[in-house]
Amino acid sequence: MTRILGISGALRKASTNTGMLRALQDLAPSEVTMEIATLHGIPLFDEDDEAATGKPEAVAALDRQIRAADGIVIACPEYNFSVPGVLKNATDWLSRGGSPFRWKRVGVIGAGGGQFVGTARAQYHLRQNLQALQAITMPRPEVFVNHNEKKFDKDGNLTDAETKRHLGKWFESFIEWVEKKP
Ligand SMILES: Cc1cc2nc3c(=O)[nH]c(=O)nc-3n(C[C@H](O)[C@H](O)[C@H](O)COP(=O)(O)O)c2cc1C
Repeated sequence: MTRILGISGALRKASTNTGMLRALQDLAPSEVTMEIATLHGIPLFDEDDEAATGKPEAVAALDRQIRAADGIVIACPEYNFSVPGVLKNATDWLSRGGSPFRWKRVGVIGAGGGQFVGTARAQYHLRQNLQALQAITMPRPEVFVNHNEKKFDKDGNLTDAETKRHLGKWFESFIEWVEKKP
């Protein structure tokens, strides 16, 4: 069994990025399990709190999930041309006391609105953060979904056939890359 963990950089229920992770769950072949983690409940990083009480339970739980997985997919929205604060905050917490991402295979995808660059700027900032966390991030193929208002329903479920096909091909490459460790 190959264990994949999805992490969405958005907290909202109808997030299209979380929706992409659900689409990957549907696309997963039988030898792959795909779990989705949450960033809900992770407090703002404060070094004083860290010194006083250590890692909060929400961070420790995510740390354990990452360590238990063979591959991690991060679905990254773009906020102000960069990584959303909740995701950056989570990776800052996770980087402390030994990164669970060390030598872990990571794939980055993202969906955004309008005709914009489909989260490319945010994804490239995230890739830079992942370097610091010692992750092994898949170079390509890449997934930059734009016009998410046309490709997802109001609950954030992926409905666009072409995007599903592209995501499916990306997932095949990612699974191969996780399993074969080239
Ligand atoms: C604070 C904020 C900043 C945003 N900045 C950008 C941006 O720089 N580029 C972009 O393409 N979309 C931007 N958006 C739009 C998001 O891409 C859009 O809300 C997207 O649906 C968020 O992902 P989600 O559906 O997973 O929540 C921004 C949205 C918010 C709330």
